Amino acid sequence: MPESRAPPPAGAIERVAQLRKEIETHNYRYYVLDEPSIPDAEYDRLLRELTDLERRFPALVVPESPTQRVGAEPAAGFRTVPHMVPMLSLENAFSEEEVKAFDRRVRERLGSDNEIRYSAEPKLDGVAVGIRYENGILVRAATRGDGTSGEDVTQNIRTISSVPLRLMSDAPPVTLEVRGEVYMPRSGFAEMNKRAQARGEKVFVNPRNAAAGSLRQLDPRVTAIRPLRVFFYGIGEVSGWNMPATHSETLSRLAEWGLCTNPLSTVVVGTAGCVGYYERVGQLRANLPYEIDGVVYKVDALRSQRQLGTVSRAPRWALAHKFPAQEEVTIVEAVDFQVGRTGVITPVARLRPVFVGGVTVSNATLHNMDEVVRKDIRIGDSVAIRRAGDVIPEVVRVLRERRPADAQAIEAPSRCPVCDSDVRKVDGKAIIRCSGGLFCPAQRKEALKHFASRRAMDIEGLGDRVLEQLIDRELVSTPAELFRLTVEELAELDRMGEKSAANLQRAIDRSRTTSFPRFLLALGIPEVGEATAQALAEYFGDLLPLQEASEEELQKIPEIGPIVAAEISAFFRQRHNREVIRALQRAGVHWPSAMAASANAADDFKGLSFVVTGKLETMTRDEARQQIRQRGGKVVESVARQTSYLVCGDKPGSKLAKAESYGVKVLNEVQFLKLLQRNDDE
Ligand code: IVH
Repeated sequence: MPESRAPPPAGAIERVAQLRKEIETHNYRYYVLDEPSIPDAEYDRLLRELTDLERRFPALVVPESPTQRVGAEPAAGFRTVPHMVPMLSLENAFSEEEVKAFDRRVRERLGSDNEIRYSAEPKLDGVAVGIRYENGILVRAATRGDGTSGEDVTQNIRTISSVPLRLMSDAPPVTLEVRGEVYMPRSGFAEMNKRAQARGEKVFVNPRNAAAGSLRQLDPRVTAIRPLRVFFYGIGEVSGWNMPATHSETLSRLAEWGLCTNPLSTVVVGTAGCVGYYERVGQLRANLPYEIDGVVYKVDALRSQRQLGTVSRAPRWALAHKFPAQEEVTIVEAVDFQVGRTGVITPVARLRPVFVGGVTVSNATLHNMDEVVRKDIRIGDSVAIRRAGDVIPEVVRVLRERRPADAQAIEAPSRCPVCDSDVRKVDGKAIIRCSGGLFCPAQRKEALKHFASRRAMDIEGLGDRVLEQLIDRELVSTPAELFRLTVEELAELDRMGEKSAANLQRAIDRSRTTSFPRFLLALGIPEVGEATAQALAEYFGDLLPLQEASEEELQKIPEIGPIVAAEISAFFRQRHNREVIRALQRAGVHWPSAMAASANAADDFKGLSFVVTGKLETMTRDEARQQIRQRGGKVVESVARQTSYLVCGDKPGSKLAKAESYGVKVLNEVQFLKLLQRNDDE
């Protein structure tokens, strides 16, 4: 369609205004409410219609139109802009005592005997920006800089889709400078780095650096494709607006105008409220989609804030309560090679002990030799160690500038460090495996630990210590031999009385009656975890057809791809594995047949997905999961928007909060039992 010089018809003017409003509303629903109401394709259609109309009638284009996010040409540099209201920093606290001292100072200065109400918010780990709106239109954005002036990053900020170019208000303030943190969600960061690595480009060390680097791009077209987001947490300069009385209300106003505020922000009372919040958010931390390094408490009443004022560069009314660092630097003192259950040999760094993420860490996995080469780790190197939540500590990177002259390269062993068997490479990758199989004591130990574990044969009392003794004393070398152990033999072991020996023997005896999926898991077939074992059991019903299945047949199961199929088929082809199975069956290991099991199975839960969390009274979580699967339901690990139900026991942790925030139905144990019964009765 040719562009028109004639004044645009009234119909086009109206339609353009309507489209912009609709698009802004969808942005608001998507970014602020986290509740998208239309499919992406529909959104794209609205945007395309607007682009077309603007192309036909260029007179209708305005800078705040949603089509105008990426407009500018690359800049030669960033201009410096002064902050009308300085951008302050925060005082830090690392302990409860420091929080109490802060609260005491606040109360003294305010002359208050009452408990203080604080706005409590997560402390985002990103880049601070101030964004200025005049009569509701975005006119300028600047980084914090030295606090009094920063860099003009307007063109880059405009490319961030979650930042409104126009506020959703009929009567916006005359001027309003909002302040917030630009950050990169973890998922976007991982994806971006993966792509950069594939192209042989530089990868970013962490999401914070990635956010900072993306924001400081001279070419806004580059910023536009980086997955940046902003959470707003305050205001700077403001005029022509009746300020609310509290900070928390200010945040609500910002959200109503389409400025994304953090959903975990809330109001707490007194230091007990603050510390409770710190702990709650600390629990959620590892599972949040973005990185935070602490929480912030702000005196909620703006009058009190003004009364308290500012010292040097930080306000007296706010405090950052930091989490223990998740990243620390230490030295690699040695590298050992550990042999796992399937013979995979993993390099493990022995570290000079360092306190990180709240615990002392002295080992970190190096995953495999590829990783060692890629990160160029040597013995003697200073390395950054990271520990997030319950995750195994990892080496993030080497501090090359600190490498000593005698740093020693790490070499992959050519023989198994435990049994001296040959070492084989796994399909050309950097993964190496001991070829000793069950001849290798390390593999034997791990295989037996796995066999006895809770999710497999579930033999209570047969822990790592007992198993290690049984193997070292050569009382047991295969799983079937466990069933021949006598009370007398068990009682001989260290720290094992007559009574616990008898209990253990009974537990071993009881475990003979098991289920098919548990048995499959216990065999320790490479690549076969709980979900795959379950899928195999459901598909084949019993052992015989599974043992005979071809790789093609195996791949008919949706969960199973060519690699897993090859492992399963190879496992059952090995004579000694069939031998192990026969020996177990001779020892009396058995499970109810498929016919009996399917008699009470139904598919009432078909199409429903469940997450089970917390401690249940009447059953274990695994039993609850089994009940769900038996009724055709799907059990998943983490709560998503599509999850049908969260079954929630005592002390649920972060999954409950997530379910509530997504509006996923939560069932307590009684409700869950009722649901099970209803399906039994029908
Ligand atoms: S308030 C006067 N709230 O932390 C108050 N800051 O160490 C100044 N930050 O420069 C900021 N999350 O970049 C505030 N919820 C939050 C925050 C937050 C992260 C950053 C911000 C600031 C730095 C101070």
